[in-house]
Amino acid sequence: MDSFSGRIALVTGGGSGIGRELVRQLADAGCHVALCDLSQDALDGTLDYCADARAAGVRITAHVCDVSREASLEQLRGEVMAQHATDHINLLFNNAGISGGQSFLNDPREQWDRTFEICWGGVYLGCRVFMPLLLKASEGHIINTSSVNGFWACLGPHVEHTAYSAAKFAVKGFTEALLTDMRLNAPHIGVSVVMPGHIGTPIALNTHRMWVGEPEEMSGDAVAGTRERWARMDANAAAMTDDMVRSMVRASVEQFRDGAPTTAAQAATTILEGVQRNEWRILVGEDAVALDAAVRNDPVGAYEREFNSPFSINT
Ligand SMILES: NC(=O)c1ccc[n+]([C@@H]2O[C@H](COP(=O)([O-])OP(=O)(O)OC[C@H]3O[C@@H](n4cnc5c(N)ncnc54)[C@H](O)[C@@H]3O)[C@@H](O)[C@H]2O)c1
Repeated sequence: MDSFSGRIALVTGGGSGIGRELVRQLADAGCHVALCDLSQDALDGTLDYCADARAAGVRITAHVCDVSREASLEQLRGEVMAQHATDHINLLFNNAGISGGQSFLNDPREQWDRTFEICWGGVYLGCRVFMPLLLKASEGHIINTSSVNGFWACLGPHVEHTAYSAAKFAVKGFTEALLTDMRLNAPHIGVSVVMPGHIGTPIALNTHRMWVGEPEEMSGDAVAGTRERWARMDANAAAMTDDMVRSMVRASVEQFRDGAPTTAAQAATTILEGVQRNEWRILVGEDAVALDAAVRNDPVGAYEREFNSPFSINT
């Protein structure tokens, strides 16, 4: 796709992080955008963030939608068609995601299932529900966000990471298979799988809020579980008071957002450049590129303690 100007894009999870930056950069390039997210507050933040493009006449519409629910996506499709007066979209960014369901054995099943149904189900249903609108476009592109956890199902030897990894592997496998399907059956639609490394977004904080609440509001049980996990990596953690655990959790989710090697804006730029070049495989960040090479070099050793990954959580 040579230019985004005058096209119509849908960005799921557009109320925060990478999605918000995608909306802004698309709009700045003259692309009309529909964004969706779980809360109106998140959507309003992105609308404010894109004030300049809106003032310049770019159409940005915001929609509350849960991408894990087909009926919610169908309602979104109707709203997009009405508010953009269109029978098609050109770009579908299946970006919404959360983390959670780390241990298959110990975490609550509802958390595991919810993580999987958003991270995988949201991509699958997004493609199902919006495919008719993509097929009607003269030129289209599907961009599905996986992760480095779509090729390395791990955060190091001390941390379980099952639901998110399973979902991100599914996104990657599905999108790679779609490549051939689209080339055979809808060659005017490109396909890309996005695999970000560590990107500076509030995803850790957003996920914590979803499952547990604010770090300062963690229950005694939640604090005890966190302390126990940390004590696997550092025996000194066992002696931490409840309030010390709560403030360390706050520090770590903020460090995830503020201490990343790649910003959300840089990630969005990499993704959009990849789409313009019609790259089907978009690694985001030097850390993602390095991990991809390391896992390919030693796929068996990738799950051993000695495997050196920038993504291993060691402390
Ligand atoms: N930040 C990273 O380091 C990183 C790394 C690899 C992959 N990713 C992936 O990138 C994508 C964007 O993540 P981010 O870091 O910008 O996170 P983020 O939390 O900043 O943004 C994700 C947005 O998705 C929304 N969302 C969650 N569930 C939803 C649902 N059911 N329906 C609609 N919206 C929903 C959230 O409310 C949030 O606004 C996700 O798929 C994530 O898994 C992020």
